[in-house]
Amino acid sequence: MVFLLPETTGLMVPRASVEKTLTLLKQRGLLNAQLKIRSENDHIRIPLSREPFAWELEMIRNDVPDVKLCESEFPERQEKTTKPADLLSDKLPPHLLASLPHAVDFVGDIAVVEMPPELEPHKLAIGAAILKAHKRVRTVLSKSSPVNGVYRLRTFEIIGGDARTQTVHKEHGCVYHVDLAKAYFSSRLSYEHLRVASLVKENETVVDMFAGIGPFAILTAKKHANARVFAVDLNPDAYQLLRKNVLVNRVMGKVTPILGDIRKVVNERLAGVADRVIMNLPERAIEYVDVACKALKPEGGVIHYYQFVDSPDPLEAARNQFAEALSQTDRQLLRVSEARIVRGVAPFKYQVVVDAEIK
Ligand SMILES: C[S@@+](CC[C@H](N)C(=O)[O-])C[C@H]1O[C@@H](n2cnc3c(N)ncnc32)[C@H](O)[C@@H]1O
Repeated sequence: MVFLLPETTGLMVPRASVEKTLTLLKQRGLLNAQLKIRSENDHIRIPLSREPFAWELEMIRNDVPDVKLCESEFPERQEKTTKPADLLSDKLPPHLLASLPHAVDFVGDIAVVEMPPELEPHKLAIGAAILKAHKRVRTVLSKSSPVNGVYRLRTFEIIGGDARTQTVHKEHGCVYHVDLAKAYFSSRLSYEHLRVASLVKENETVVDMFAGIGPFAILTAKKHANARVFAVDLNPDAYQLLRKNVLVNRVMGKVTPILGDIRKVVNERLAGVADRVIMNLPERAIEYVDVACKALKPEGGVIHYYQFVDSPDPLEAARNQFAEALSQTDRQLLRVSEARIVRGVAPFKYQVVVDAEIK
């Protein structure tokens, strides 16, 4: 039997953009998996788990300009998925149920949550509910610090399942060995990894300046038979995982992992080699614009520049700050081919990327 529910907020999306929209919604925990998608001529209606914030809608529109909010009836899925909230309904009072973490990040078989302070006394019950609701999950981690330090790491508390931070994560057909406590990795950058790797052209040489465990570098090498990537990181644990990931994804010879400080590495062996440079260190990339310019071939190329911004016009602010840093070098900005919000990292604070063509 199919039940139609009262009207629910949804997104109306052109048929051709459904896959991309679903990926973006899932990453943000905005897809209502209890309800079915509706098909209508050349459009699809996708049910949302809640009303998106204006900035979330703007982020989605950056990638899928034609999405529209709509109010529609959506049929209920026959097999109801179990949600942690359902499993906790007799254990927590309603006001605490409302503050359950909405966004659960899945990295391999690990679930990562941010626990609001009022739920701290109930964290083990919440960990157990997440394990029960998501059969593939073996470990539940609660973030216990912000991302910090040169290696961009955070600490975690294990609130359910096996006591470990290592796992194997699959993204866009690549396999990544990950250790969340020892090397940076975020499944929220999945679309960005794909976007940048898809922009690379055959025969290009890419320098991934802050490569981590390799999600930009390895996907780029997998997607392009003749691309060459130098993947650099300062963190010895990230470098060891990167080497392993190069082996398991069979991109030896195409991705060259390098351990070291990017400034030194470019000076010593990567000056003038790159058609494209990836600068995914959003809190400090501004300090390395001169290094990116040095890595580019003399005739120029493309820089993917990342930055955290909390100004009212984040795209304009990132474009201006990048242009200002570039003006201190001997390079010229030909054009910004794209500037987009990658994700919200805090209220009114965004990670932004600027794709710049440089000569
Ligand atoms: C935000 S993480 C990005 C990881 C990766 N690009 C991804 O998408 O998962 C930034 C990485 O830059 C590395 N890093 C920081 N400073 C560096 C430097 N001066 N030279 C090379 N790597 C550096 C850190 O160790 C960290 O792994």
